Amino acid sequence: MSERVIKIGLLGLGTVGGGVYRVLQGNRELIGRKVGARIEIKRILVRDVSRDRGLSLPADLLTTDPEVILGDPAIEIVVEVMGGTGAALDHVRTALSRGKSVVTANKDMLAVYGKELFALAQEKGTDLLFEASVAGGIPIIRVLKQCLAANRIEMVMGILNGTTNYMLSKMTAEGRDFQDVLREAQELGYAEADPTNDVEGYDAARKTAILASIAFNTRISFQDVYVEGISSISAEDITYATELGYVIKLLGIAKDTPEGIEVRTHPVLLPQAHPLATVTDSFNAVYVRGDAVGETMFYGRGAGALPTASAVTADIMDAARNIVHRVPGIISCTCFEERPLKEMGRVRSKNYLRLKVIDRPGVLAQIARVFGDHQVSLAAVTQKDTEGEKAELVLITHEVAERNLRDSLAELEQLAVVEKICNVLRVEGDG
Ligand code: NAP
Ligand code: HSE
Repeated sequence: MSERVIKIGLLGLGTVGGGVYRVLQGNRELIGRKVGARIEIKRILVRDVSRDRGLSLPADLLTTDPEVILGDPAIEIVVEVMGGTGAALDHVRTALSRGKSVVTANKDMLAVYGKELFALAQEKGTDLLFEASVAGGIPIIRVLKQCLAANRIEMVMGILNGTTNYMLSKMTAEGRDFQDVLREAQELGYAEADPTNDVEGYDAARKTAILASIAFNTRISFQDVYVEGISSISAEDITYATELGYVIKLLGIAKDTPEGIEVRTHPVLLPQAHPLATVTDSFNAVYVRGDAVGETMFYGRGAGALPTASAVTADIMDAARNIVHRVPGIISCTCFEERPLKEMGRVRSKNYLRLKVIDRPGVLAQIARVFGDHQVSLAAVTQKDTEGEKAELVLITHEVAERNLRDSLAELEQLAVVEKICNVLRVEGDG
């Protein structure tokens, strides 16, 4: 093994940091030979040095003082696996401004502060690598930035949140309702005590913003992403979707269209034959269409200590290799265009609607008239359960602009015969 030693500092030793520690120790020789240098963890920042982490750590490795890492000129790579946009952001800014390479798994930070941080890395000629920030162990950032670099990317669509995919898979396979599977996901440690980020789609939306920025070479932030979560999905929606030949998935979707970049995260009905429809449990997958490569799909674990550490450690190795060969920052930010965003009202899709209506003659005609007035064309109408005078209608529209659909729904809500618009979901990947 080469005598060259690259010293690194970890900010955080929780789930991901602990995984990185294990991978770096366990595969030390292999990693050293691949990089051409020995990678040595010099110090690790934590909140509580006395906490038992189930690791045999050398004395003095842990510190609660960030300056011990950020102020040490011998530490060339800072690995930020703390999370959040508070201290982590300050430390990443400091590390970059001092010319250190940074590896991070922090999508919350990059989806909001990416522009500033990548500009700083570029100015300082350092690496800011972030493979683990999207889809954990699945290599997708490098795929988009390097392996598919020759393509004009047309679309990226992914199952980017394991917790919600687990919940929707359980609801589909076992007919259980949302609250029931949420409780189970929390007991299994997939969903946090406050599951808002996962369930309301914010986690997936942050990842969608990062993917879209790379795919379309233009900066897309979390605030640019249209977001809906899965808390409105009921056991009935799952049953009806299945009967119609679809599965319900929470997708991050980014498309390059003549009217601008479409970027959204919401539940969709996906044809059962679509490659993403077969991705179940807590797995993630990203489907990419490029003008040269055609369709590709990447599948694996989107979270967890070792899968995420796999991606973080590969970034550490790349950063170390670049230092050894004196080329840090060689692949920098690729957001060299300024593309407009497509307004959500102009996004076109087919839709699934579930309505509770009064069950008597002429009701369907009234509903059809409202849709017709707004150029919403119906592809299928099915009457489901009837309880007394009430019936449930399940409708599928032809492709329509979002704003026409919204206008028609606003008018439908005013009809005396429509008791409730129970759910409206977009249909994706259907032709
Ligand atoms: P975690 O288990 O909560 O670990 C956070 C670590 O950071 C802990 O070691 C904690 O110290 C330390 N820390 C937090 N705030 C600190 C502060 N102000 N000062 C000093 N140390 C501090 O988090 P995680 O699950 O490993 O996630 C880390 C990052 O990876 C996040 O950005 C997350 O989004 C991302 N990520 C996680 C996964 C996953 O599967 N968990 C997957 C992909 C990406 P103590 O140990 O002393 O409390
Ligand atoms: N909470 C995320 C998920 C993992 O459920 O996929 C971290 O990105």
